[in-house]
Amino acid sequence: MKKFTCVEDIGPLKEAIEEALEVKRNRFSYKHLGENKTLLMIFFNSSLRTRLSTQKAAMNLGMNVMVLDVNQGAWKLETERGVVMDGDKAEHLLEAIPVMGSYCDIIGVRSFASLKDRNEDYEERVIEQFIKYSGRPVFSMEAATRHPLQSFADLITIEEHKRTERPKVVLTWAPHPKALPQAVANSFAEWVTKGDYELVITHPKGYELDEKFTRGATIEYDQRKAFEGADFVYAKNWSAYEGENYGKVLSTDMDWIVDSEKMALTNNAFFMHCLPVRRNMIVTDEVIEAPTSLVIPEAANREISAQVVLKRMLEGLQ
Ligand code: CP
Repeated sequence: MKKFTCVEDIGPLKEAIEEALEVKRNRFSYKHLGENKTLLMIFFNSSLRTRLSTQKAAMNLGMNVMVLDVNQGAWKLETERGVVMDGDKAEHLLEAIPVMGSYCDIIGVRSFASLKDRNEDYEERVIEQFIKYSGRPVFSMEAATRHPLQSFADLITIEEHKRTERPKVVLTWAPHPKALPQAVANSFAEWVTKGDYELVITHPKGYELDEKFTRGATIEYDQRKAFEGADFVYAKNWSAYEGENYGKVLSTDMDWIVDSEKMALTNNAFFMHCLPVRRNMIVTDEVIEAPTSLVIPEAANREISAQVVLKRMLEGLQ
C-alpha cells in the first residue's frame, strides 16, 4: 500500500475487516515488519486519539516513531507555490516535504480543512503534496475532506457489535458551537455505503454533504423518523458544505441533541461518536454513559485500523 486517504485505498472491505480482527487478536505478531523502520507523524492540527493510537500501532509493529507538531517549534510553512515569502512563513512545503521524507520510511499527515475556500479544501492540497513530493508511503490522519482511519475503526466496531446481518446505521448531525469540517461525516458515509449496511443520514436543511460521499444513503430531514428501528446511531456535527454557506454554522438547534427520548425510538441502538465530543451539545450524559455507548471501544479500535494500514505499508517495503 503506497497511500491511504480514502476507502478505495483499503481494497475489499470484508478482507480488511477480517485482517483487522486478526491483528486485534495477535497485535504483536508482526514486530519484525517494522524493524529499523521509522514512522513520521506530522500534525498541522491537534489530536489525542490519532496521535496515541497511531504511535501505539507503530510500536506494536516494532517501528521507531517521530512526531512533528508543525505549529509548535517548527518553522511556519508556506503551502502555496508562487507566493513571495516576505511574511511570517520561513519555509516552503516544497522543501520541507522531501526533507521530512529523507528521515523516515512512512509518513502520516493530519491537516484539516480551512473552511474558507471549498475548492482549496476539497482539492486536498496539503496531503496531496506529501503524496507527490515525499517519496514515501503517506497515510491520512484526517485530511480536509476525509478521516479514513476513523471510519475504518468505526466499521470494525460496528462489525463487532452488530446483531443483524444488515444493520440500519443512522448518521445524525448534532449541534456544536463552532464550525467543524465535514471530514468525519463524509468519510463515515463513504465507508458505510461501501459495506453491507442500510445508511440513513439526518440533518437540518442546509447541511447536505457532497453527494460524492452520500450516494447510496437515504437522506431524512426528520431526525426522529430517521432514528426509528436504528441499530447504530452515529452522531457528528459538521458545518455547511453547499455554496456560499460553505464552512458556516447555520443552526445550533438543541432539538437535534441525541438524548434518551430519541434513542428510545431505535432498535436499542448503540451510540457512536468519533470523539472528542461536547457533552450536552451533541449527546446527553445519559446516552454517552449508557451500556449501549460504544465511544470507548470505537476509540480503542483506532489502534487496530492504524496497525492494519501501517502493516500493509511495511509489507510493501519488505
Ligand atoms: N477521533 C479523533 O481523530 O480524535 P483526535 O482528534 O483526538 O485524534
